[in-house]
Amino acid sequence: MGNAIENKNITFKKDTGRETVVGVISEIQINQGSYSTIFDSIVDVAGHKKRFIIKKYKDTMGASAAKNADKAFKNYSLAKKAGLKIFPTFRVSENKKNILMTTGFSNGQICVGSNNDITVTELGRPLICEIQNVDKFLSDFFNEHLKAAKHGIRFWIDVFFFILSRNEPTKIDFVVGDLDNSAEMEPSKSIGLRNMEYARTTLIAFCEKNINTNFAYKFREKVEAYYEQGVNAVNASELN
Ligand SMILES: Nc1ncnc2c1ncn2[C@@H]1O[C@H](COP(=O)(O)OP(=O)(O)OP(=O)(O)O)[C@@H](O)[C@H]1O
Ligand SMILES: [Mg+2]
Repeated sequence: MGNAIENKNITFKKDTGRETVVGVISEIQINQGSYSTIFDSIVDVAGHKKRFIIKKYKDTMGASAAKNADKAFKNYSLAKKAGLKIFPTFRVSENKKNILMTTGFSNGQICVGSNNDITVTELGRPLICEIQNVDKFLSDFFNEHLKAAKHGIRFWIDVFFFILSRNEPTKIDFVVGDLDNSAEMEPSKSIGLRNMEYARTTLIAFCEKNINTNFAYKFREKVEAYYEQGVNAVNASELN
């Protein structure tokens, strides 16, 4: 579904408070989510054309669009302070209804979540047959969830996006991409354990949609092993 806008200027504010005016040159809708509609956009920033994602929030889940976007924005700030792997840009518009963020897409790179139809095959790439340094990838993924819990961030099952290279099919990384459903809480073991569950659920959903069946079994086995390690790490941590 396409949707083009001409000469539309929006003021976006950074978590540091700094404001930038951005001219939206074009936008293509890529997803209709529960909180927002997502656009792959070309914008003009100080005379330079750049590709960003714009999330246009909706009045939903008993809250206004502005409240939903502001929650995501505040969660981004928390995730940044906690030193989590976030996208470098995440800004909220003046009317608080839109978020401008770094895109996970570029010429050589694609981005998928785990809870919708945007999958590697949908983006024109074959299913994943192998992941380089898969143990490090999984261990880092569960650790990120523990780190969040230690900083009082309760994640959800759709927080992480996976970044893949078009030319290096075994290369993969993760990034905190969707902060709509996360919440700030007192750090506790219980949040730690919930985050471990979410990490496991995310990886299983990601595997179902994006990993070749020949590799999926091995991947799932490893997910279970690292999930167990993650639970042990929470239980052995200083969290109460
Ligand atoms: N910055 C981004 N870069 C690349 N892709 C993105 C980006 N933001 C969102 N997407 C794509 O759009 C999908 C939905 O985004 P997101 O989860 O943030 O919105 P949502 O409203 O919560 O949608 P849903 O209800 O499907 O979770 C993601 O899974 C991802 O595929
Ligand atoms: Mg989501």
